[in-house]
Amino acid sequence: MFITCVCVCVCVCVCVFASGQYLVERILKDGDALGLTLAFVWNRNPDKLKGFVPDELILLDLSSFADRRCDVIVEVCHPHIVKEFGLHFLSRSHFLVGSPSAFSDPDLNQKLHRAARQHSRTLYVPSGALWGGQDIQRLNDSGALKALFIRMSKHPSCFRLTGDVLSDWTEQEGRRVLFRGSVAELCPLAPNNVNTMAAAAVAAGTLGFAGVQGEIVSDTALRDYHVVEVEVTGPNGFSVHTVRRNPAKLGAVTGSATYNSFWNSLLVCKGHGGRVYLC
Ligand SMILES: NC(=O)c1ccc[n+]([C@@H]2O[C@H](COP(=O)([O-])OP(=O)(O)OC[C@H]3O[C@@H](n4cnc5c(N)ncnc54)[C@H](O)[C@@H]3O)[C@@H](O)[C@H]2O)c1
Repeated sequence: MFITCVCVCVCVCVCVFASGQYLVERILKDGDALGLTLAFVWNRNPDKLKGFVPDELILLDLSSFADRRCDVIVEVCHPHIVKEFGLHFLSRSHFLVGSPSAFSDPDLNQKLHRAARQHSRTLYVPSGALWGGQDIQRLNDSGALKALFIRMSKHPSCFRLTGDVLSDWTEQEGRRVLFRGSVAELCPLAPNNVNTMAAAAVAAGTLGFAGVQGEIVSDTALRDYHVVEVEVTGPNGFSVHTVRRNPAKLGAVTGSATYNSFWNSLLVCKGHGGRVYLC
């Protein structure tokens, strides 16, 4: 779904070398033709934005975001930012949450949904690296979704874990299962690496973060891509198993095809007032 006539001012909470940079470059290059205007860009280290974002678009203090009018705020940095600013963002703008692992906190999840309803804003959850998210959502909404399992396998350099479980990896070690459990349990352990699972848990609302199961696997053979496997179970023997090979640079949290997926989600952002929208 492409938006061709809406004027959306977009703010990006950005990183310099990955998703944020990609989105900023695309908006600056293609935004005019699509009616997208960049309102501001924020990074916790503003020096990283110098030379790549026009000076007048660099926001130094995220707390002053409301000084810049924008219709959609895009977060592509860390669930902490969703926690700290999500409610404020929703009081002024629609909000695209690039780090949906933030929703694994039931209290924050409830507050964000309430704020979206109260202010008639939309919470957008990009599909990111999830294949078939809208099919999962439809199965869920019809009451037919019985189980959902997602396995994410990456080179160990691509993981950002809160514990030190991977501190001893060696290039020869091959495959190692790091964690298996509910997505609710996995999100705090790997907040930057399980956002695809989190997006799936949002789509599978009847199972929720506690009901959707996940596994993260370190595999030194995966130097060029991440692998995302999704197993969906429905009634009467219905099942779907997808395997996505997502080309990725060594050490990258995000597969390169996911950048374009984020961009396509951004283009969907208009007028779904006050509900969660997987795009
Ligand atoms: N929904 C999905 O399927 C999906 C897929 C891939 C990535 N993601 C998520 O999108 C986000 C961005 O991905 P990326 O590849 O650009 O990540 P990245 O690690 O390359 O960049 C993250 C940026 O956020 C900044 N950052 C990290 N922690 C921060 C904090 N606590 N406060 C402020 N800034 C912080 C970093 O300095 C960096 O600039 C990540 O949360 C990632 O997990 C989601």
